Amino acid sequence: MPTIVLTGIGLLATQSAEYGDLPDAGVLIQDGRIAWVGSAGSAPDADDRIDLGGRCVLPGFVDSHAHLVFAGDRSEEFAARMAGTPYTTGGIRTTVAATRAAADEVLTARVAALTSEMQASGITTYEIKSGYGLTVHDEARSLRVAAQFTTETTFLGAHVVAPEYAQDPSGYVELVCGDMLTACVPYARWIDVFCEHGAFDVDAGRAILLAGARAGLGARVHANQLRHGPGVQLACEMGAASADHCTHLSPADIDALAAADTVATLLPGAEFSTRAEYPDARRLLEAGVTVALATDCNPGTSYTTSMPFCIALAVREMGMTPAEAVRAATVGGAAALRRSDIGLITVGARADLVALDAPTPIHLAYRPGVGLICAVWKDGLRVR
Ligand code: NIG
Ligand code: FE
Repeated sequence: MPTIVLTGIGLLATQSAEYGDLPDAGVLIQDGRIAWVGSAGSAPDADDRIDLGGRCVLPGFVDSHAHLVFAGDRSEEFAARMAGTPYTTGGIRTTVAATRAAADEVLTARVAALTSEMQASGITTYEIKSGYGLTVHDEARSLRVAAQFTTETTFLGAHVVAPEYAQDPSGYVELVCGDMLTACVPYARWIDVFCEHGAFDVDAGRAILLAGARAGLGARVHANQLRHGPGVQLACEMGAASADHCTHLSPADIDALAAADTVATLLPGAEFSTRAEYPDARRLLEAGVTVALATDCNPGTSYTTSMPFCIALAVREMGMTPAEAVRAATVGGAAALRRSDIGLITVGARADLVALDAPTPIHLAYRPGVGLICAVWKDGLRVR
């Protein structure tokens, strides 16, 4: 693989403690990794030299929460919501019916289109959940599709109770912990549960996460999205990598997150699309909680693949500074996936980089809705 040196970087926002924000910087890429970071003037020679003309460069965004394997469209549901109909978890079943009816190729093509949109928005690592199949066969095939695109795959059989089990929810929990888990484990790294009124209670959630842990899967929880509930406490108790949504938090939830190794992953696209109140990121940051930002891309509550949009929302609506929001979308997302090789620019990290047509990353929030991503490298390869 030819070596590449990037020079003329007006500002390199490394997100690493070692380098911080470097003005007038250069980066050497070798074998898909970052091999050198320093001032542009002393950049080493390389096979290729790219002058970025003063643009700023930051790590590729890490999207630690996305539901990309689905079919169908719920734009009418969104329009009805904007006219006053509240969001309910019942909408998930609409997507389940469409997903079950779709051929593998249709699901794969959808994921390819969405991940390509993500890359265009500067996302270089994405997690993908199942959760719109809810049968042994459809959950396993959803994860098989997801695994073609990422190693960060999550089994979310516990999204809602499958319609066939409406009268027997505990039978569904048994299925999730038994045959469905067995069929999904070969394609999954993580297990997730939607711990919420209308989905799974805390006992079911615990049983599902424990079964996942016995099968070698790390835990994640959809927690405290629609109202206050036990999801965040469950995530902390189980040592989950991440508690996601965190929209309705008590002081005790914040204390638990601060004491645990569990990242609070905020998903402002969901509050935007359900016209809900945004979580207060300031409270979390001030308590010392690690915060991640993710798209939650899904057809029901957040049909966006744009991390810059989420950053702008986090700054405008959740009390984050632009620097905190960019950090949450990079190192924060990496922490939520328990990864130290992505989300920062330092020697040895993956060469996942984004160049902005702007002098600083502040522009991501300062110029909302403007396509500022002008180049993207994934594992050292230019993909945009
Ligand atoms: O993360 N909260 C649960 N799951 C999705 C929404 C799913 C849907 O409505 O289709 C979310 O917001
Ligand atoms: Fe989600």
